[in-house]
Amino acid sequence: MSGLDQSQRGSWGSKIAFVFAASGSAIGLGNIWRFPLMVGLNGGAIFVFCYILAIIFIGFPVMLAEFTLGRHTAKNPVGAYNAIKPHSFWQLFGYMGALGGACILSYYGVIAGWALGYFYKTVTGAFRGDITLAQSDALFQNFAANPLEMIFYLFVIVAITTYVVSKGVRAGIERWTKMLMPVLLGLIILLAIRAVTLPGASTGLSFYLKPDFSKLNTTVIFFALGQAFFSLGLGVGTMITYASYLSKKDNLVTSAGWVSFSDTLIAFFAGIIIFPTLFATPGVSPENFSIDTGLMFQVFPLIISKIPGGYFFGVLFFFLLLLAALTSTVSMLEIPVAYFVDERNWSRQKATFIVGGFCFFLGIPSALSVGGVETFTRWGFLSKMDLVFGNIVLAVGALAICLFISYVWKVKNALKEIASGNARFRLKPLWVFSVKYLAPVVIIIILIFIRKLTG
Ligand code: TRP
Repeated sequence: MSGLDQSQRGSWGSKIAFVFAASGSAIGLGNIWRFPLMVGLNGGAIFVFCYILAIIFIGFPVMLAEFTLGRHTAKNPVGAYNAIKPHSFWQLFGYMGALGGACILSYYGVIAGWALGYFYKTVTGAFRGDITLAQSDALFQNFAANPLEMIFYLFVIVAITTYVVSKGVRAGIERWTKMLMPVLLGLIILLAIRAVTLPGASTGLSFYLKPDFSKLNTTVIFFALGQAFFSLGLGVGTMITYASYLSKKDNLVTSAGWVSFSDTLIAFFAGIIIFPTLFATPGVSPENFSIDTGLMFQVFPLIISKIPGGYFFGVLFFFLLLLAALTSTVSMLEIPVAYFVDERNWSRQKATFIVGGFCFFLGIPSALSVGGVETFTRWGFLSKMDLVFGNIVLAVGALAICLFISYVWKVKNALKEIASGNARFRLKPLWVFSVKYLAPVVIIIILIFIRKLTG
């Protein structure tokens, strides 16, 4: 643990440092890689519509719920459940979160490895000149199918993450996130402006922004909800853990508001870049394009090659994407590590190295599943991991936290915690309604339905 920390567990330097760190956790590949992918796979604008509703009415309230529980107990997820209801079955959801965080890291690390590989490619000039979608696609397929390279990049990502987390919360995480997210947002807006001015951009824009309500179904709602949890980093206790390092003076409501807002903004602009660029390519339209896992890696090089100073902006973009990914991987590793440090008295060093090693080995099949090894590719190992851990586990975890706060800890106690640092909580009725009824009911219905989807 860093020498700067006052208490044993460490704490954030200020409220703004916490908001940056929590946004660092939220903003990542979920916004730029996963969001456009989900939009493409789930009917375009109708997905965006459901997603925004899911963020406002379910994601934001659940984030506030995690903040509240985390700050009140000052514990990792397992410890948090136990602090309020000792040794009950609720702690299982804490364990599920710690394990879920590690499992998400295992395949998320693979995608972060792609970002690293692409950073290297842009630096060495792979995307110079005007490239076509077909070239960019071929480049991605070749890249992802190289087994040793994939494992190497995964290893580097997990190693960096392990190193940062082993240094402790303050010195490790805070410093990374302070300034870079606004720069990322600026760059994305710049690329978005270029994308919408491409000839033929309107097909992409209407695919992205004009909802076709006849495409609305439970699958779309399921993935919109899953994406909301994934993008905000909810359901496995990241935000419980991060808020556990927070002081009583801080305003939880505005913090949750800022994090949700900035996260949504980045995802939204990522979509503005992807779809106009994709569908402005001659011969490509929403009807005949089959979306694959590499979507953003195929499309971003195109738009970057179409702006003046593309080399510079390309290098900057992939560098920032990599950092955004790392501030997220750090938050995933922090959950199981905080558990071993708090509950098992392991040293931070030992906990990070053991859990980091576990994530690396678990990530190998995912690393080999986009063309690297036949069997894993056929199973779609990475997508299956993402379906189970990136959607179902998050939804179950979010459900647990809502039920726990509403019916075990009781809403009035949670409200007392929120009141510390925020005397006037204007959104109180919305929050209480969502945590007690809306979020649980929607999640339960969706989970019942999903048995059909996977079965
Ligand atoms: N929210 C991050 C992103 O959008 C990923 C992430 C960080 C996450 N912590 C998480 C996802 C916990 C699920 C659960 O890239």
